[in-house]
Amino acid sequence: MTARRSGVSAAARPAAWLAGFAIAFSMLPGIAAPSPAFDFTAEEKRRILRHGPWPPASAPDPSNRVSGKPDAIAFGRALFFDARLSLSGAVSCATCHAPDRAWTDGLPRSRGRRTVDRNALSLFNLRFNRWFGWDGAQDTLWAQNLRPLLDRREMGIGPGGAARLVHADRRLSCGYRRAFGEAPGADDERVFVDLGKALASFLETQVTGRTPFDDFRDALARGDAAGQARYPAAARRGLRLFIGRGNCAFCHFGPAFTNGEFADAGVPHFVEPGRVDPGRLGGIRKLRRSPYTLLGAFNDDAQRSTAAKTRYVRLRQSNFGEFRVPGLRNAALTAPYMHAGSLGTLADVVRHYSTIDEDRLHAGGERILRRLDLSARERADLVAFLETLTEKGPRREVATKPADAACR
Ligand code: HEC
Ligand code: HEC
Repeated sequence: MTARRSGVSAAARPAAWLAGFAIAFSMLPGIAAPSPAFDFTAEEKRRILRHGPWPPASAPDPSNRVSGKPDAIAFGRALFFDARLSLSGAVSCATCHAPDRAWTDGLPRSRGRRTVDRNALSLFNLRFNRWFGWDGAQDTLWAQNLRPLLDRREMGIGPGGAARLVHADRRLSCGYRRAFGEAPGADDERVFVDLGKALASFLETQVTGRTPFDDFRDALARGDAAGQARYPAAARRGLRLFIGRGNCAFCHFGPAFTNGEFADAGVPHFVEPGRVDPGRLGGIRKLRRSPYTLLGAFNDDAQRSTAAKTRYVRLRQSNFGEFRVPGLRNAALTAPYMHAGSLGTLADVVRHYSTIDEDRLHAGGERILRRLDLSARERADLVAFLETLTEKGPRREVATKPADAACR
């Protein structure tokens, strides 16, 4: 299965088999390994291969009728940088999600019109998310994009203000018409939700590029020793901890390095003295109250084919203090870390896991996180591995030609 997905033909398999032989050979006592590239066991190799291939296949979002449509992508990009969508006229999405800061603001907690409770999530690989926001209060990308437009601390323009702007501005109404194939209608809320959908089409294009880890992983799948040897030894040791003793891959699972769910990673969740962030518990409550979910009237998919997760979501007391497991691709570019930006560097994150206070974690169920007591070298190795999840080469996402050029 993995071999087929990574494009390795049956004819190439003997090479993989030989690599397996080399692993066994390198483990014989007294015989030097031919190359440090061969030091993973068959079980480790199986675990590593699950983190790819990259990029994975993806389809348009059926809940968004303009998902993948070029005119909607262009309109969404223009909206993303438009500060008129805020009450003050001074805050755009890019204020907190700057393209040259890997779509974050570099702050522990974001500041719009006022400071908010959480750290700005970066906007990579959103098309693979099941839930949105640190608490998963949104079940689609388009609904997530509406949240800052509703929250007065962020942009707060709301449905009426947003619709008025689109109607009044010739370029915006033209962009809307091209994206949706009709002029903005009289129903303000529908126009408003459509802005979230155009923004979603744009953000869906932000898939991270190939990383040194991906090259290593594919070389491992092919049994290509020279390809594997290019991966630094420290990163290889860190990878072994990540999939092994550190148990990181239990939650940071699969090609995007997240299982898409929620967990308690032992991060304190006080917002200020006397007030805590309830995390997933609050997220499920918000989801249930929201008109903008897959179960509501704005889902463009009459079959509700992606709505099962929302229909069957259950509220448990253990959801209190759980946050979404973030994907780790490009994590090296998105400091500070955790839901309220409480940890400044990847080294701080690794130290957190190494010295985690097990008594602070949820008692019930299987204990996943344990105090690891890593040595300084092991911590450096884990950081070295995390850094190999950074895409190679510069990103090019900012439009060079005005997105509304066609509207003139
Ligand atoms: C004031 C700063 C601020 C502004 C302005 C802002 N965001 Fe965010 N964004 C955040 C924060 C903070 C989070 C995490 C929110 C949470 O979990 O509650 C976030 C989360 C997101 C997410 C979720 C990502 C994920 O992985 O789940 C998306 C998508 C997003 N923002 C898009 C936008 C768009 C589109 C706009 C403009 C309409 C925007 N944001 C404006 C701060 C901001
Ligand atoms: C039990 C599930 C779980 C395990 C195991 C786990 N993590 Fe996490 N990880 C999370 C959650 C949840 C968060 C967000 C926590 C928060 O914000 O409160 C997180 C956050 C992170 C972040 C910060 C990402 C960001 O963008 O802010 C990094 C880096 C990270 N984990 C690396 C690791 C490493 C390395 C290991 C192994 C030593 C590990 N994780 C083990 C669930 C887990």
